[in-house]
Amino acid sequence: MAGKKRVLLIIGGGIAAYKSLELIRRLREREISVRVILTAAGKNFVTPLSASSLSGDKVYEDLFSLTDEADIGHIQLSRDADLVVVAPATADLLAKAAHGLANDLASTVLLATDKKVLVAPTMNVRMWDHPATQRNISTLKADGYLFVGPNAGDMACGEFGSGRMSEPSEILLAIENALSAPAITSLSPGSLKGLKILVTSGPTREPIDPVRYLTNQSSGKQGHAIAAAAAAAGAEVVLVSGPVDIQDPTGVRVIHVETAAQMYDAVHGSLPADVFIGAAAVADWRPETLADTKIKKSAGVVASLALVENKDILASVASAGSKRPKLVIGFAAETTQVLDYGRRKLDSKGCDIIVANDVSAESGVLGGDLNTVHIIQRSGTESWPKMRKSEIASRLVDVIGSFDHGDKK
Ligand code: C5P
Repeated sequence: MAGKKRVLLIIGGGIAAYKSLELIRRLREREISVRVILTAAGKNFVTPLSASSLSGDKVYEDLFSLTDEADIGHIQLSRDADLVVVAPATADLLAKAAHGLANDLASTVLLATDKKVLVAPTMNVRMWDHPATQRNISTLKADGYLFVGPNAGDMACGEFGSGRMSEPSEILLAIENALSAPAITSLSPGSLKGLKILVTSGPTREPIDPVRYLTNQSSGKQGHAIAAAAAAAGAEVVLVSGPVDIQDPTGVRVIHVETAAQMYDAVHGSLPADVFIGAAAVADWRPETLADTKIKKSAGVVASLALVENKDILASVASAGSKRPKLVIGFAAETTQVLDYGRRKLDSKGCDIIVANDVSAESGVLGGDLNTVHIIQRSGTESWPKMRKSEIASRLVDVIGSFDHGDKK
């Protein structure tokens, strides 16, 4: 990274604020300087003294003390930074930012900054799920805010669900991605307007009998992130999703399916589209027969399962004649020879782009939040550094936006 990067860290009032102290330490270990704004609520969780000791700088708390000549103004705080990070980002801070309220130092800086803003939300799961919060998040995403987390898990309030702030290591990675990505020309909210984008995501589930099925470890995180990013860029998005544990992205029409055959029908029923992105991990096979009742075991008998191949959805869309989308993008999840298999898939599936990634157990890609992908086109291959799946989604949306889509509807 050229030159010393500077982060302006806004610490909001959440129990996870203690993790932000660890974040300051880890940023400074990486030679990234940190200047801290502590909100009034944040002060209930960490002290200005601890934040100041770790950042090696004064901690800024009060909007009006910044009018002192000896001090620097809120505009200067933002000017001095390469990136503004809000961690923890409470429901209140997100709501203020989404509505342009500016009644304290943190919200005023957020309104006044022209720098990228990365937020790490944390709140009670019901506050997170509340339509008001979800609306604010969609607004902020459309405004270009970057998000890291929240994660799902046990919460300080004794509940379980989505709302835990990301770990310092995850926030650090998101910061490094944001700081090292000047090349990302994040598309403006209307830049995919007029395009219909059809996305598949998640695994499929192939029943064996009424209680058993075959499936795989796909979480749907990558496909859902792509659908969300495309919708944020103004596209009309239809997402055909297999069974996943994550929420439907906002602003997207979601068709929920279970089996590969249902996914095939839902996809073809949703054509025509301008762009097709096959991010689902479609089961290659299904049991030849579906037992009506639970199959019983018999002692000493080796059980066997006859499998038949599922139809290839991606290949069928790529060869759909007049209904073929102008841009067909497939994924190649491989455990070895990722580039090699990826290149071959470009032709065998008949698509325009293959996004190839390593899904070996060591990679942690399946179910994880990070991914390393190679964008394979006939004109050449571009390898992207390891980054969050949401970041890959917005870059992919940039790639889609860079194609000539002719007359948009
Ligand atoms: O052949 P393989 O499963 O490795 O190909 C991966 C790509 O093909 C992914 O884009 C996946 O969504 C798509 N696919 C499909 N239908 C299948 C199998 C794979 O659309 N039956």
